[in-house]
Amino acid sequence: MKEIGVGVIGTAFMGKAHSLAYAIAGTAFGDGLRPRLEVLCDINAQRGQAKRQEMGFARSTTQYMDVINDPKVELISICVPNVVHKEIAVAALRAGKHVWCEKPMATNVAEAEEMLAAARASDRQTILGYNYTQNPLVHAARQLIEEGAIGRVIGFHGIYDVDNEADPDRPHSWRMNREASGCGANADLMCHLVSMAHFMTGSEVARLVGDYDTVHQQRSDPKNQGRTLAVDNDDVCTALAHFASGIKGTLRVSRVAWGRKCGLRWEIHGSQGMICHDQERLNEIKLYARNEDPRQQGFRTILSGPCHQPYDAFLPNAGHALGFIDVKACELHKLLTAITTGEPAWPSFEDGIKIERVMDAIDRSVLSGQWLDV
Ligand SMILES: NC(=O)c1ccc[n+]([C@@H]2O[C@H](COP(=O)([O-])OP(=O)(O)OC[C@H]3O[C@@H](n4cnc5c(N)ncnc54)[C@H](O)[C@@H]3O)[C@@H](O)[C@H]2O)c1
Repeated sequence: MKEIGVGVIGTAFMGKAHSLAYAIAGTAFGDGLRPRLEVLCDINAQRGQAKRQEMGFARSTTQYMDVINDPKVELISICVPNVVHKEIAVAALRAGKHVWCEKPMATNVAEAEEMLAAARASDRQTILGYNYTQNPLVHAARQLIEEGAIGRVIGFHGIYDVDNEADPDRPHSWRMNREASGCGANADLMCHLVSMAHFMTGSEVARLVGDYDTVHQQRSDPKNQGRTLAVDNDDVCTALAHFASGIKGTLRVSRVAWGRKCGLRWEIHGSQGMICHDQERLNEIKLYARNEDPRQQGFRTILSGPCHQPYDAFLPNAGHALGFIDVKACELHKLLTAITTGEPAWPSFEDGIKIERVMDAIDRSVLSGQWLDV
């Protein structure tokens, strides 16, 4: 297998997830490009050095430009807070590197547009970290819908609830600051739900009305004991959505929903049935088909298996279950395939900006209290 040198910027949750995906993708898929771990970058030098050793990179640095300027690096992972996505992505694309950027694409549409312009001006490939859409079983569900298993699609209804910030005693972080993160739950969680809505329906949200709630308006300042900082973005975000295809939907996300750990749940309503998924049970989909014998009708659970490709890249037997990192490796495989074939992967920056525009329209709609076109 031909190798591709990779650099990862950021070493926390996503930096590790990308590094694990790089480590297993070649072995799992056995085709295309085998990633070679070149440079790891973190502004925290100690952390960067420790992680370099743990994760097996050749070098570490505190300066992301070192990664971008490294001639051995052809593909760069952006796994840092949202506020730095744009400057790194633009510099990387200008330097001729392929980019795997975490979601959301940026902190606002203007930044995302700059990133898209840089991608269009280069001949490099991009992909965004909307990993939940890369689950082989989710792909199988979409295929069943395309084959008519639930008739005509009449609605998309999704929720993404987590309890990351449900504890009012959790200190303030960059995620609760508009400048650093953009919107709150709207940026962090809604982008995943919108990516799923776009992927599953093959259509895009075209018109919407949004609503926000900031449940915990002050959080303790982690750097100044006894002081608090204002939370200036949303804990809960809801939208009624009309899609370009004519279907209607509801989208609801919360970062303060006790008990929900990765509660991304969605239903595709069809004229002849329904398909449902719950990310906390990522190896199952539920299918209800109206045309079955009424005496046996009911939701049926389909477990993931080798017929839901590329599950078979990891396991030969059904029901043994893939995990988050396996799905991240599927996402990477899409990007590596795009790099070898020159055919863009989904969701590239071209697709990502459509997701950003939905979040932006929600934000504007909340401010104006009006239904708005995306
Ligand atoms: N796809 C997913 O499911 C998913 C899940 C979690 C987070 N994310 C996204 O991944 C990104 C990172 O999230 P996280 O939870 O890993 O973040 P984090 O805040 O926990 O960690 C960020 C890391 O980047 C480093 N860093 C910050 N600024 C830097 C800079 N300028 N140069 C180099 N290193 C820098 C920090 O020291 C830290 O190690 C965010 O955009 C987030 O939205 C995606």
